[in-house]
Amino acid sequence: MAVDVLLGLQWGDEGKGKIVDYLAHKYQVVGRFQGGPNAGHTLYVNGVKTVLHTIPSGIFHAHLVNVIGNGVVIDPTTLMREIDQLEAGGHEVRSRLRIAKKAHLILPTHKLLDMASEASKGEAKIGSTLRGIGPCYMDKTGRNGLRIGDILSADFDKKYQSLKEKHLHLLKVYPEIAFELQAEEAKWFDSIARIRELDLIDAEYYVNERLKAGDSILAEGAQGMMLDIDFGTYPYVTSSNTISSGVCSGLGVPPSSVREVIGVTKAYCTRVGSGPFPSELNDAEGERIRVAGNEFGSTTGRPRRCGWLDIPQLKYATMITGTTQIAITKLDVLNAFETISVAEQYETKGGLTDQLPFDITEGILGVAHSHHTGWMQEINAGSYEGLPDAVKQYLRYLEKQIGLPVVYVSTGPGREELIVR
Ligand code: GDP
Ligand code: IMO
Ligand code: MG
Repeated sequence: MAVDVLLGLQWGDEGKGKIVDYLAHKYQVVGRFQGGPNAGHTLYVNGVKTVLHTIPSGIFHAHLVNVIGNGVVIDPTTLMREIDQLEAGGHEVRSRLRIAKKAHLILPTHKLLDMASEASKGEAKIGSTLRGIGPCYMDKTGRNGLRIGDILSADFDKKYQSLKEKHLHLLKVYPEIAFELQAEEAKWFDSIARIRELDLIDAEYYVNERLKAGDSILAEGAQGMMLDIDFGTYPYVTSSNTISSGVCSGLGVPPSSVREVIGVTKAYCTRVGSGPFPSELNDAEGERIRVAGNEFGSTTGRPRRCGWLDIPQLKYATMITGTTQIAITKLDVLNAFETISVAEQYETKGGLTDQLPFDITEGILGVAHSHHTGWMQEINAGSYEGLPDAVKQYLRYLEKQIGLPVVYVSTGPGREELIVR
């Protein structure tokens, strides 16, 4: 049948995991297509919190298969820890999980390289999650990487040693950093041995056969459009294509199979890590959003930077991703705000614009805001019609600005706290 894509329209942490978990009942396959354990997707199922890093957010549904696609980078230790935690919670994982043989492996020395590279950058650091993502994708494009399928070959250890030696050599260009390589390696090889027992597949054949058989696939994005390697706020980005095209290269499905693109945005904006953020609030209001939204990273625990929704940024993100439907999350976080502001245009040397300049840091001198009356009440409507008028007005304003329908409205972290229009 078709592939629907769900991805973040901002700088990550838009609430993708929650929406995937909600929508999963409509699909036969959920697949991750890029990123790795830099992602942290939070799900509340029956009141119990789970944060998924590598495993797709369809894992709590018995009827479907979760695929970790070729575009994903896998840290064996993190993956096995995640599986152990889910199983300890009484959840079935192995029969619901398939892993692409072409997915790349994050080595312990990739994490070491990530740390050394960040440490050497000082003030200019990316703010990486230090999970080895950048160095692993560098080896992939540099044609040095090791893949899941390689762990089945007789000379895997030799291949590992050879790449590790390369990394140790590379590390000499950086100031030394503390890292327990031997201990990490032992855990890594333990996990590799256990991964050999999992269902490792030629995922490109699998997903295409499922499509041919009439099944539907939900492709779950990690990070967000503004962290895309090509169109994000480079160099303050991640190392993969987080946009819709990443689905084709990261799962092996043709562009013609893509149907809807569901773009997820918060009702405001956050960013974790360094880099430009035009609508950022470095004041008490930003702090108020951080506290109300509990804006601390799901993977690293770092405080997230907060700001108002940014219309030029969202227009850019929906243009690049081909978004067809908007999902708006964390609307409830604004329940107590008398006024809700929105960045509507950027002030540049050439005047007001609603386009992102090449150099966001230098090119944007300020932002022009519009202001909207807050609803000042809890939202517990079961339907769109039942929402307070001020909420509907805010959503209508966004739809008009972005030119797309808001189809999903999330009003709390729980699976059921979602209004579908
Ligand atoms: P993801 O990476 O896009 O899956 O998002 P994260 O899980 O990193 O961050 C989103 C956070 O917001 C998580 O703690 C979610 O439980 C929470 N969340 C998601 N939707 C809502 C919502 O509508 N309201 C509130 N208050 N929290 C939400
Ligand atoms: P989810 O899927 C938010 C950010 C990091 C850093 C930059 C590069 O949960 O939305 P990396 O480790 O990829 O080299 O870091 O990208 N980043 C995320 N920010 N959510 C994420 O994932 C992120 N994954 C990476 O903070 O600024
Ligand atoms: Mg997250």
